[in-house]
Amino acid sequence: MSTTAVRLRPASPRTRLIAAPPDQLGAVAAVVVADFVRAQPNGVLGIATGASPMSLYRGLAAHRLAGLATEGLTLCALDEYVGIAPDDPRSYRSYVLKNVAGPLGIPAERVHLPGEVDDYDQLIASLGGVGLQIVGIGGNGHIGFNEPGSALESSTRVVELTAETRQANARYFGGDPAAVPQQAMTQGIRTICNAAGIVMVASGAAKAQALVAALTGPVTSQVPASALQLHPAVTVVADAAALGEE
Ligand code: F6R
Repeated sequence: MSTTAVRLRPASPRTRLIAAPPDQLGAVAAVVVADFVRAQPNGVLGIATGASPMSLYRGLAAHRLAGLATEGLTLCALDEYVGIAPDDPRSYRSYVLKNVAGPLGIPAERVHLPGEVDDYDQLIASLGGVGLQIVGIGGNGHIGFNEPGSALESSTRVVELTAETRQANARYFGGDPAAVPQQAMTQGIRTICNAAGIVMVASGAAKAQALVAALTGPVTSQVPASALQLHPAVTVVADAAALGEE
């Protein structure tokens, strides 16, 4: 496992930035998560879906095979589509069960997604809060499905997905953006920032503009991920392309 030098300096001194080759991102991020699991084997892990964290989840499963006890974790997802049945393979519940809970040996009873209870923020609080939240970043700077313009103080709620996000996710819906749900339920920006720690995974040039703005630009609701500058314990694991250094 190797990391690479990075020129970009995050605006927040509390943001730890680790650059890694694209094929090592997941393994590097998995070490950050494995450290959390070792410290809090019965803790709450916040789960992002999508492509970015897939190699992280594979890396975490490898840690389990090597003896890391992941079975006691509780999983709380960032978001879920509105209007997709929970057992639909395209639902985020299906994603979390298949890619995270299954490989980590976590029973479905300890997998939670927005929309399954009236007050998701209250559910998270009743579980003791998220210990470590995994996030990706949208090409438009979203975290969760907090699209540009979302209030930095937002809590879990139903949101309209932008045309850009529906286009980006069309690959999971037969390539047809019109087939992507118009709405999703997402943890709010404040909900995400309530997590004790956050680890972001970002890969590829399509993320560069948003990631550089989030790390070095002003904190603004126009770039929802910029809110992470206000968080005390953020680790960003990114490749050179995502950092605009390629
Ligand atoms: C997924 C989520 C989104 C994604 C983002 C990047 O649960 O909340 O914010 O992290 O859209 O998606 P990928 O990783 O597929 O590029």
